[in-house]
Amino acid sequence: MLNVIDNNLYIEDVSFESIAEEFGTPCYVYSKTSLVNEFTDYKVAFKDYPDTNICYSVKANSNLSILNIFNSLGSGFDIVSEGELDRVKKIGADPNKIVFSGVAKSALEIRKALEFGICFFNVESLDELEEINKIAGEMGVIARISIRVNPDIDPKTHPYISTGLKTSKFGIAIEDSYQAYQKAAKMKNIDVVGIDSHIGSQIFELQSFEDSLVRLEELYNKLIKLDLNIRYIDIGGGLGIKYKDEEMPPTKIDFANKIMKIMKKINCNLVLEPGRSLVGNSGFLVTKVLYNKRSNEKNFLIVDAGMNDILRPSLYGAYHKVTKSVQSSDNEDFYDVVGPICETGDVISYDTPLNDVKLGDNLIIHSAGAYGSVMSSNYNSRPKVPEILVSGKDSYLIRKKETIDQILQNEVVVK
Ligand code: LLP
Repeated sequence: MLNVIDNNLYIEDVSFESIAEEFGTPCYVYSKTSLVNEFTDYKVAFKDYPDTNICYSVKANSNLSILNIFNSLGSGFDIVSEGELDRVKKIGADPNKIVFSGVAKSALEIRKALEFGICFFNVESLDELEEINKIAGEMGVIARISIRVNPDIDPKTHPYISTGLKTSKFGIAIEDSYQAYQKAAKMKNIDVVGIDSHIGSQIFELQSFEDSLVRLEELYNKLIKLDLNIRYIDIGGGLGIKYKDEEMPPTKIDFANKIMKIMKKINCNLVLEPGRSLVGNSGFLVTKVLYNKRSNEKNFLIVDAGMNDILRPSLYGAYHKVTKSVQSSDNEDFYDVVGPICETGDVISYDTPLNDVKLGDNLIIHSAGAYGSVMSSNYNSRPKVPEILVSGKDSYLIRKKETIDQILQNEVVVK
């Protein structure tokens, strides 16, 4: 997807320089070919388990064009809010391929999802189970549910994105879940269809997925004795990707082989909710060098993208590779690449080696396709940046730059 021609970095057949010139900076840029390849790799990896439903986790990148690409490849969707539901409706997603996750679904969200006829809810608490049963009763429908169980697995990832431990707020502890299932089985407007878990994100250790699925298998064997018609095992998302050149995440094939080995013993549909591993390495943030500030201690490159545009480095200390759009091998120096926001933590990348940097140069922040644009904010009253999709020689504006008027329009001045 990336090529260097005459020292210029290209995404597919379009140079980042021409994108910066046409659309302005900062801007997010995605490669359609890469998105398609990542999805196809998942499909191929799981081909020996035909009852696999890939439900792209919309929260990773919810741009309508990206959802539309996955939809046309046969993807389903994992959603967590009314807004995400409206997005997948808008691109014509099949309700049968939608799972609704999330820690606390509101009454409105439950109602709208039932009206649309989604495949099932991943229920996270007994209170929520009762709420879904109540609303389904009022609507005269049956709600399909699976219970998100917390298998108490440490996926050895960043604590902020680790969700399967006993101490986390997510799901119902696996040892308590049997009782929850018994309760659900007696509810008039509930059809218990599955078991769900999601242990965290950016996971490199396949053993964690295996340990978790083995616990789900044990639970499954107990539940079928309850005469429950469990037909879906949802293992969530979480597969890690390469951010640093030296990192070696597991391949989708290795991941699939581990999972399929266990699934073949369970007579169920498999649901996957991948986010990052479908979009992370297909996206880039292009930003311009505004100023270079040198002191005895530090060498700062101040760029036009800030933590409001890409939050991951400030929030998690996450690493994103930064390179120049026009490559050079002269005058290497080390820089802290920082944004213009009034926060000490507004740093994109520390001690970054870059060659021949001049004011006005465009820098490329790599692996920014997942949890990039979706986590951007209007902090410092900065408009959200445009998004561009590249396919071969063509580039399309898939989200316009927000205007300051749009930021201000919902506010009311009270005297
Ligand atoms: N399913 C559920 C229930 C989830 O909570 C998540 C992510 C996924 C699927 C998708 O996981 P993935 O395949 O992308 O790892 N903002 C953080 C990541 C937060 C992940 C939240 N849940 C980051 O920038 O690293």
